[in-house]
Amino acid sequence: MSRLSFFVQSVRNMKSMGTITRSSRFICREMVSYIDFENADVIVEVGAGDGVITKYILKSMKPDTKLLVFEISEVFCKEIEQINDDRMTVINDSAEHIGKYLKEMGYDKAHDIISGIPFVVLPDELADCIVGELRKFLRQGGTMVQLHYSTLTKRLYEKYFNKIDIKFVPLNIPPAFLHICT
Ligand SMILES: C[S@@+](CC[C@H](N)C(=O)[O-])C[C@H]1O[C@@H](n2cnc3c(N)ncnc32)[C@H](O)[C@@H]1O
Repeated sequence: MSRLSFFVQSVRNMKSMGTITRSSRFICREMVSYIDFENADVIVEVGAGDGVITKYILKSMKPDTKLLVFEISEVFCKEIEQINDDRMTVINDSAEHIGKYLKEMGYDKAHDIISGIPFVVLPDELADCIVGELRKFLRQGGTMVQLHYSTLTKRLYEKYFNKIDIKFVPLNIPPAFLHICT
């Protein structure tokens, strides 16, 4: 998808997008660096946009690992489908339904989770519900990497995770704060 098309989608759906640009390669590389690719059976990505991070995840994934990608925008889902990789299932549904889809595919929990969902702009109750479900369906010892442009929502993750490390990534528009939740 072109930068302009991404921008148009962002402006049309500002309440669920929270940004007008897709992530830089620096963000993508840093986010996937926390995934345990060696041992992962199933990785989950939520809030994938047009799939910019998805491609980096797939590049490092072993042939027998599966990737579940949640994205609420139908336009973006069609774009992600074009990556055309058998290891990936694209789900046009909201991320709080993670448990249902993992079960359907024969898994109990995700090994690791990558999230681009802009919890800052979502209603508090929905944000809380999604993060709670993501935590519930992340294996013990797993990592959730959350993309943000501030540290305003750190408390939300502290409610569900033992440890939150913040990694500042300046080479992005806007500069980002990755929340590494374990
Ligand atoms: C900030 S964009 C991030 C896109 C991409 N991951 C990136 O880094 O460029 C946030 C994405 O989260 C999606 N999103 C928002 N709420 C969601 C939800 N409840 N479940 C799944 N995706 C959601 C939006 O449609 C949007 O594509």
